[in-house]
Amino acid sequence: MNINFSPKHIVILTGAGISAESGIKTFRDANGLWEEHDIMDVASPQGFQRDPKLVHRFYNLRRQQLLSDEVHPNQAHIALAELEEKFQGKITIVTQNVDNLHESAGSKNILHMHGELLKMKCIDTGKSLSNKRDITIDSPCPCCLKKGNLRPDIVWFGEYPMHMDQITKELEECDLFVSIGTSGVVYPAAMFVEIAKSFNTFCVEINMEETQVSDNFDMHIQGPATETVTNFVQLLIDKE
Ligand code: OAD
Repeated sequence: MNINFSPKHIVILTGAGISAESGIKTFRDANGLWEEHDIMDVASPQGFQRDPKLVHRFYNLRRQQLLSDEVHPNQAHIALAELEEKFQGKITIVTQNVDNLHESAGSKNILHMHGELLKMKCIDTGKSLSNKRDITIDSPCPCCLKKGNLRPDIVWFGEYPMHMDQITKELEECDLFVSIGTSGVVYPAAMFVEIAKSFNTFCVEINMEETQVSDNFDMHIQGPATETVTNFVQLLIDKE
């Protein structure tokens, strides 16, 4: 494993695989969240309209788990935070994850493209508010004071991911793109490698297994994120 240049601007895309060793379930692995739930029931505006109680329960349980003593950032999150601290150039983490483990590990420059579990949104005003508590259909919205007007600040299927202008700009400008722990099946994140490649950017995939987009990368590093990400970050730090 080596790269023969010293990058100046790195964009790092992360997915559920980076948080798997922190005890947070991925979506599509065996026993993953989408095996236990119908995606359209808990991750679509239509599902929320049909059964808001079910949707609130799903995200309340995930938020409770994230805030429990069981879940901590793992060595992969910590290594990326160390990289941001030591690297002379620019590092941007673009995460599909709705957990806050990159922040807890100390990373600063993070774009949450699919929203955040620790935020809620007023349905009328679209205002995003910090939240660590359970939301129910009876919770009054702190913004408009109406009951039943709160939803998780999560991007659902059919909705437009957040920060896309900034992400596209960074993908066009970076000289190293690294994708960690994502299956590469959900768009637009799945096509970030193609955008980066079209600007001749060196692209590295780090994953437990080959994915359906592995062939688009210049380098594929296979293994658990806690080991592979730590080793790869060390390689980048040694280049500094
Ligand atoms: P997936 O569950 O689709 O994929 C997780 C990936 O992580 C798989 O490719 C696994 O092989 C890999 N993986 C698992 N454990 C790993 C480990 N310890 N180290 C390294 N890799 C590991 O999750 P995402 O790709 O993040 O969107 O899913 C993308 C989006 O689909 C999510 O953000 C979510 C979901 O529907 C929304 O909810 C909007």
